[in-house]
Amino acid sequence: MPTSRTLEEGLALARHRVASTLVEATRRDIFPHAAPSATGVWEGTRAGVWTSGFWAGLLWQEFALSGRADDARAAEAWTLRLTPHLDRKTHDIGFVFASSAVLGWELGQSEACRDLALSAADRLAAMAHTAAGVIPVGSQAEVAAGLDDVTIDCMVNLPLLWWAWKVTGEERFLRVAVSHADRTAEWHVKEDGRIIQSVHFDPETGERTREETHQGSGTQGCWTRGQAWGVYGFAAAYRATRHERYLEVADRAATYFFRRAGADLVPFYCFDAPAIPEVRRDSSAAAIVSAGLLILAEHAEDPALRQRSRDRAEALLSALVRGYLTPQGERDRRPSGMLLHSCYNRRAGWDTDHEIVWGNYFLLESLRVWARRH
Ligand code: GLY
Repeated sequence: MPTSRTLEEGLALARHRVASTLVEATRRDIFPHAAPSATGVWEGTRAGVWTSGFWAGLLWQEFALSGRADDARAAEAWTLRLTPHLDRKTHDIGFVFASSAVLGWELGQSEACRDLALSAADRLAAMAHTAAGVIPVGSQAEVAAGLDDVTIDCMVNLPLLWWAWKVTGEERFLRVAVSHADRTAEWHVKEDGRIIQSVHFDPETGERTREETHQGSGTQGCWTRGQAWGVYGFAAAYRATRHERYLEVADRAATYFFRRAGADLVPFYCFDAPAIPEVRRDSSAAAIVSAGLLILAEHAEDPALRQRSRDRAEALLSALVRGYLTPQGERDRRPSGMLLHSCYNRRAGWDTDHEIVWGNYFLLESLRVWARRH
């Protein structure tokens, strides 16, 4: 039975969860990655993984709300601790540093974070495959199927390049990002807005060869979070470039998401899972889509599209805040502010019914943006 709480109350709970996570992460000296929905006890590692930038980014977001120097110090320390990830051969360095070091500069004016983010952008841009005009997943990506694999997830690595172009004025960042976004729109996004997770290409010619899903069901299922990365990634591409073609893709992908999400709005992990409704949901996908829609609501020029995007984002946020944030009922003893029921990788059996740190990140981003407008 969903609660009747407001989005303001949801924001307070999400912030409370950042505070309780900081206590736990500091005591256990781990980057929090995921916590079972049943317990709320964080699992994580000292060195961090591809999701760890979202933890530092949650702290930067908290600093933006609180203005407290202590929060900035903690956020900067966790961000700089990610420096060894620069050497990983994976497109995920975009996730790692766009969500942490970029915010460190944008929200905290940390020069150390700015330098770290620029180093990461250099490395990400250098991963581009010239013939294909895309950034493939790389040899050390956490989910991948070969060096010829390019995934929709990478659209949310591009904000690192959009940002590097903005702060340096260097066109090479823009060229790589525009080429990747254009190819992704062409290769991954169907006419009805449905997005396929992975496309392979011929390394000699750069031509598209085949498509598949790694995290959806079967070989072709529409993986919900991939759909969400697409909405967010193209919305961010539009914000950075003002190219209408990216706005159109983001809106089309969001329309597909809403058409298939069902009455609950928080979707199952794959739109095409044959066992629906007896499968895991992925609340993080709803949080990512709401954050993408709020970019459109803020930056699109067409008033109707702005309004539609805002209404859709609010509907998703209400569903999350009422039905998926703890506490769910008076007897709920789990930590407050957990975003329940995200699914990392159903096929691999990783964190299939968990609170996952990127879900919290995009929920807090959405609620912060929403609160600025109210
Ligand atoms: N690879 C990013 C994700 O699991 O969403």
